[in-house]
Formats: sequence, C-alpha cells, structure tokens
Amino acid sequence: MQWCHYRNDQLLAEEVPLAELANEFGTPTYVYSKAAILQAYGEFAHAAQGHRTLVCYALKANSNLAVIELLVRAGAGFDIVSAGELARVLAAGGDAAKVVFSGVGKSESDIRAALAAGVRCFNVESEPELRRISALAAASGQRAPISLRVNPDVDAGTHPYISTGLRENKFGIAHERALDAFKLAASLPNLEVLGIDCHIGSQITEIAPFLAALDKLLELAGRIEAAGIALKHLDLGGGLGISYQGEQPPARRDLLEAIFARLASHRLGRNYELMFEFGRAIVGNAGLLLTRVEYLKSTPVKDFAVVDAAMNDLLRPALYDAWHGVLPVARRDDEQVVYDIVGPVCESGDWLARNRRLALRPGDLLAIASAGAYGMTMSSNYNSRPRAAEVLVDGNRALLVRSRETVESLYALERRLPPAD
Ligand code: LLP
Repeated sequence: MQWCHYRNDQLLAEEVPLAELANEFGTPTYVYSKAAILQAYGEFAHAAQGHRTLVCYALKANSNLAVIELLVRAGAGFDIVSAGELARVLAAGGDAAKVVFSGVGKSESDIRAALAAGVRCFNVESEPELRRISALAAASGQRAPISLRVNPDVDAGTHPYISTGLRENKFGIAHERALDAFKLAASLPNLEVLGIDCHIGSQITEIAPFLAALDKLLELAGRIEAAGIALKHLDLGGGLGISYQGEQPPARRDLLEAIFARLASHRLGRNYELMFEFGRAIVGNAGLLLTRVEYLKSTPVKDFAVVDAAMNDLLRPALYDAWHGVLPVARRDDEQVVYDIVGPVCESGDWLARNRRLALRPGDLLAIASAGAYGMTMSSNYNSRPRAAEVLVDGNRALLVRSRETVESLYALERRLPPAD
C-alpha cells in the first residue's frame, strides 16, 4: 500500500491526510486510491501488450461505480456474476461486448439481461445451464456465445473457502466430463462455442498452479478441437494474490509472461486469445477501511480496542480468519499495548484484527489495510448498521463515491402491519 504513507507521523492517502477524510466524511469509511487501482490494472495491461489478451476485472471484488468507471476508461473488460453486476458495468459506461458472465447459478432473468445487453461470453458451469441458455437464446432469436468452465482439479494452495479448482468444489465441469459437455454445447442450435475457461481459486501466491491449470486446459483443448469443435479463446480466470502480511505473490508481469511463454510453446495455444478475470490483484491493496476507536476496554485477560467498524463492514477476518494490517492514523510515542481490534456487533466473531501492538487513546483513528477487495462488496446491514461511506482519493483531492447509508433507508422497503382491529 505505497499510496498510504506517513508525513510528520500523520497517515496520508495519496496526498490527503486520513484525519481530514474522517472529519469530512465520518467513520467508518472505505478509502480507495485512484493511482493504486490504475497502477495495478496498468501492470496487467502493459504485460499483455502485443498479445491478444483481454484483462477483465472481476466486479465482485469491488463494484463501486467510480471504481468500475476508472477501469472502463483504462480499457478493461469485466467479469460479472449477476444481472446486478451487469447493470453496474453499463451504468458506469462499460461495453457489454467486453463482459464475461461467470457464476454457477445464472437465473433465467440473469441470462435474458445478458443476452439483451450482448455480453461477450457466458462462462457456463453445467450441462443444464447450456440447455437453459440455448433455449433462452432461441426465444430471442439469438445465438449465445459460450465458454465452458472446466474444473481442472488443481490445488491452488489457498484457503478452503476460496479454493475453487478442486474436484469436490461446486464449480465448473469435471475435467473428465468436459469433452462430452463441449459436444453437447456444439450440438445445441442457439449456442456458439467460443472458448474454454477455469478459475482455480483466490489469493494464489505462486505461478505454478496457474501453469498447471493452463496445461490441463490445453490438453483438453486438443481433444475438443480433434472432435471438430474450434475454440477461439482460453480464459484462465482470476486469483492472483496480494500481500496482506508479507506474502510475496509473483509480479503481475512475471505471471503473464510465464503464461504467454507456455502458450507460445503449444501448437494450439498460439492461436488462442487469452482472457483473465482478476479482482483482488487490481483493487485489494488500493483500499483501506478508516475507523475510529470508541473505547479502550481492559479485561483480566485481554485488552480490546472497540472501534466503530465491524464485521458487517469488513467480513473477511470473521469469515476466513483473514489478516489485515492496522495502521494508526496519528503515530504517537505512548506506551504500546497488545489489543484485539473489535467492532460493536453482538458476536464474538466480530473482530477485525487480533494481538496488535499499538499506542491508542479513545477517539484515535485506525486504517485497516488491504481492504479494497471483498470489503464493501461483502458488507451487510447486520445490527441495522448503515453501510460505510466510500471515498476515492486522487492526489490531493477526495471524492465521495458512495454516501453513508441512512438508517431510514435500511427499512424503507419494509411495511408496517395493517391497523389492529
Ligand atoms: N473469476 C471467478 C469465476 C471467480 O469466482 C472469482 C472469485 C474471480 C474471477 C476473481 O478472483 P480474484 O482475482 O479476486 O481472486 N471473498 C473472498 C474471495 C472470493 C473469491 C471468489 N471468486 C475473499 O475475501 O478472500
């Protein structure tokens, strides 16, 4: 998170003091760096130059319209998993022709919306889904562009909740059934087979699992083409990790170059356009969650810093035991104490960080680091807590890109009972 640095012991987001953002927009607030988002995407785009490659951004990581619009302007494609995410891409000025539609449970209305918009490709996960898309395309007089998501049975070496490429996961079509599924797809009149795809997991910190998945896909592609089904593209999904706590994922360029080299050495690989669906690696380290200490609370066994952000704002620690850095917004020389950083929600699982040595006073501000991906998008209104504001920083300017929710909006769709008789 190089965009986040200290000057005179005050933490800045790009050139804006975080204390100023807290005063202006309140807390908790998500803060994103425009430069960091564009740099991360730019590294992929730059590495892909000269290759037929579309780098899609997986919206599920962070679907704020301003974030999407930055990436639209930078030329990215998009990976979506719902009609809601499609609507966001279109609302941000994106082009449906650069959208791939992933997901294991596309509903009829999802598919209709994607057909109407003209998405580039449906990444299909099962035979029944092939039939459903073909039938809906027939009803609207279209041929739907599809790819089949194959489960390559590769261990991405990541947390079980975010590992998706193993046989026991619900995702994709089993490797050994893939050829038959491609034959079925090719036989359905309203489908146009474009490609083959996979996504093996998230927060992957090595190149090897990507190459192992690529090898499996290429081997399968050989058999698919031998059956007379031509493929145009190969989509390797997303999953490149970031550094939360000193992990050292490969450089974006190194990953892409290793993949291009493997493709170039393969008879069929050379002909394929390549696609990716990166989420975390584009926005994860481009965001933080700004929160204020409400209370310092000592128990006989532990010291707690109770802050105004909670598991409803950032679920990753509670759900995955995830580690996020915690930075004091004002550094001070006071004695340091080991704290658990916890929120106000009524659950013991409501913690943001554990055993952190900090010098704190009530009212201090903290930045929860690496919260740009799967932060706001996984937030909820649990405990009737309005969702945080979102701010995009650009040099010395700060733009409110989502207002803090109001309490009234939380129950605006609810109805009182009819009058009692
Ligand atoms: N493509 C597909 C089909 C996916 O399922 C995912 C993520 C991506 C692309 C993007 O993966 P990324 O590049 O961001 O790793 N909530 C979890 C992560 C869940 C990822 C789900 N799929 C977390 O907070 O760690």
